[in-house]
Amino acid sequence: MKTFIVKYLPSGENSNTKKLYDHLKSKIDLNDIEEFDLIKDNVPMFKEDSVTAYYLRNFLGKELSDSQKLAIHPFDEIVRKVQNAERLIFVFPMHNFSLPGIVKMFFDSFMLNGELFNINDESKKQQVLNKQIIVLYSHGGEYPVGSDFEKYDFVRSLLTQEFSFMGFKDYSFISYSTADPAKREMNLEEAIKKIDQKI
Ligand SMILES: Cc1cc2nc3c(=O)[nH]c(=O)nc-3n(C[C@H](O)[C@H](O)[C@H](O)COP(=O)(O)O)c2cc1C
Repeated sequence: MKTFIVKYLPSGENSNTKKLYDHLKSKIDLNDIEEFDLIKDNVPMFKEDSVTAYYLRNFLGKELSDSQKLAIHPFDEIVRKVQNAERLIFVFPMHNFSLPGIVKMFFDSFMLNGELFNINDESKKQQVLNKQIIVLYSHGGEYPVGSDFEKYDFVRSLLTQEFSFMGFKDYSFISYSTADPAKREMNLEEAIKKIDQKI
């Protein structure tokens, strides 16, 4: 299955999140993956020229000048990678209850009107995007679903909203809590079992 992996692992070899990722990689066909490493690979950020091009082309349907085409091109490249994949994997640690900034910027770079969602076109609003999405993350604290602390896990709540807004149906969040050394291994094992159920 053509798999596009977007990873941000600032802790490198010592990363807790990488343990989930290494397990997942042991289960998939590595010949069919493309990795986007947010530490090394450039993510476009909206600036005046690119955001103007985006509004003109993707909301107003206007032709772009050559320089405007150039400004929006890096965003189109990311859109293409996301659209071409049959499976999307996101891997990162929780930072300040949410996505690390660069991961949010990656989502902002491909969630484009007319590409991954449609504001104006009624017929395309209810599109269903057939891809499997898996989000692997780790966090120090515990945010169990159904508990009082669930609401502080803005990774899950934000991405649930974003995926369903775009029309994805098959998305899973697999995470584990790392702060308590007495529980860390057990938490990791449980998360690994969830990966095995998904892959
Ligand atoms: C800048 C920063 C912010 C963090 N914010 C949170 C947080 O809001 N909630 C939490 O539970 N853990 C937080 N943590 C802890 C990490 O999410 C946790 O240690 C995770 O397992 C680190 O994964 P890694 O080893 O792959 O980097 C934060 C860590 C860092 C470095």
